[in-house]
Amino acid sequence: MIGRLNHVAIAVPDLEAATAIYRDTLGAQVSAPQPVPEHGVTVVFVNLPNTKIELLHPLGEKSPIAGFLEKNASGGIHHICYEVTDILAARDQLVKQGARVLGDGTPKIGAHGKPVLFLHPKDFCGTLVEIEQV
Ligand code: CO
Repeated sequence: MIGRLNHVAIAVPDLEAATAIYRDTLGAQVSAPQPVPEHGVTVVFVNLPNTKIELLHPLGEKSPIAGFLEKNASGGIHHICYEVTDILAARDQLVKQGARVLGDGTPKIGAHGKPVLFLHPKDFCGTLVEIEQV
């Protein structure tokens, strides 16, 4: 069902410092910060030849990553995103197999303008999984 690894998202307490690490220390190509208010984050995209890293920083009052950063003060891997071709078919198959989809199960439009869903980390080896329709 899942296809390519679309991105790895890393929550960071200091977006400028994290961007500098990826741009200057690691020599990667990075984007300008992009606010995604509907997901409560500001994102910097790090473009690698085979995938992307997304540096996430809380935006607004109810950011879903604020609690994560409280528990992980220096930041950490927040989720990984796999591509699927049909998100509703993928959701239905996952639910049938007992996986829990977060929220009301309706795909939201993600940071790339495509439908996404998040799956409960307890059902996936302790990792928050995002699926994105490409
Ligand atoms: Co993501």
